[in-house]
Amino acid sequence: MTDVKGRTAFITGGGNGIGLGIARSFARAGAKLALVDVDTDALARAKAELQDITPVETFQLDVRDRDAYAATAEAAERALGAVSLLFNNAGVAGGAPASKLNYELWDWVMGINLYGVINGVQTFLSKIVERGQGGHIVNTASGAGLAATGAGLLYTTSKYGVVGMSEVLNLELAPIGIGVSVLCPGPVATGIVQRSADTAPKSGLSLSQQEERRAAERRELATQILEQGVSIDAVGEMVLKAVRENRLYIHTDRVMEELIKSRAKALLDAMPS
Ligand SMILES: NC(=O)c1ccc[n+]([C@@H]2O[C@H](COP(=O)([O-])OP(=O)(O)OC[C@H]3O[C@@H](n4cnc5c(N)ncnc54)[C@H](O)[C@@H]3O)[C@@H](O)[C@H]2O)c1
Repeated sequence: MTDVKGRTAFITGGGNGIGLGIARSFARAGAKLALVDVDTDALARAKAELQDITPVETFQLDVRDRDAYAATAEAAERALGAVSLLFNNAGVAGGAPASKLNYELWDWVMGINLYGVINGVQTFLSKIVERGQGGHIVNTASGAGLAATGAGLLYTTSKYGVVGMSEVLNLELAPIGIGVSVLCPGPVATGIVQRSADTAPKSGLSLSQQEERRAAERRELATQILEQGVSIDAVGEMVLKAVRENRLYIHTDRVMEELIKSRAKALLDAMPS
């Protein structure tokens, strides 16, 4: 069990959505917070909300920028002490039909959703290990990282990467007392669909009118589904419990159950007798 009280938590994408839900739960549990995000307004709101509960520092950071990541990590540790709770959570959702993708879109989604997680691990893991005080890493993947869904090629590729990485990190780090969890949410009520549509690179993308219409319909449907999803505060509490109990997988509902079963069956059925 990891006691989170008094530890410093570094939360990427901590200004909005699931990151903010995690920040609230860990603040109440007595962790100090380093919240990082590209959205400075959201960071200011989060700080104003949480600073009476616990020490909070905020940092504008694009998790793709490795030099800025290293500088932010140093500044966070100078202000709040050694980081031993790391939440690689910042993410975006979006893309285009597979045949219409370009490298800019691949780099955008993989850069944030996969390399953002890699950059967090590269920046902090060696320090967490050297300090010998234990700790916990939570990587936010998705149900879409566990079986194929309609979440799209870019998103799915990035999230499978995060799941695989977390499982192997867990194998390596469990024996030395560092916990790893991979958060695989189903729908959570956040503004990720619109926020991602607003920030996605648009250049070089040539969609037909019909494809544009389908993409808009998919965004509308996804927005509706997420509105009905689990609250960010409920997810924050699930993450806190999983860290305390040192559990690898964190699901927020059972939405993926049948897809995971049929994927596992198809994999097993394909093995030679
Ligand atoms: N909402 C869901 O239903 C859902 C489901 C499964 C997985 N997830 C995952 O949960 C994580 C959080 O998503 P959310 O739904 O809370 O979205 P959100 O948009 O509400 O929050 C994501 C935060 O990340 C920040 N961000 C985006 N790009 C960044 C970058 N390059 N550097 C730093 N910060 C950046 C955004 O500004 C935002 O504050 C993501 O990894 C997402 O893929 C969400």
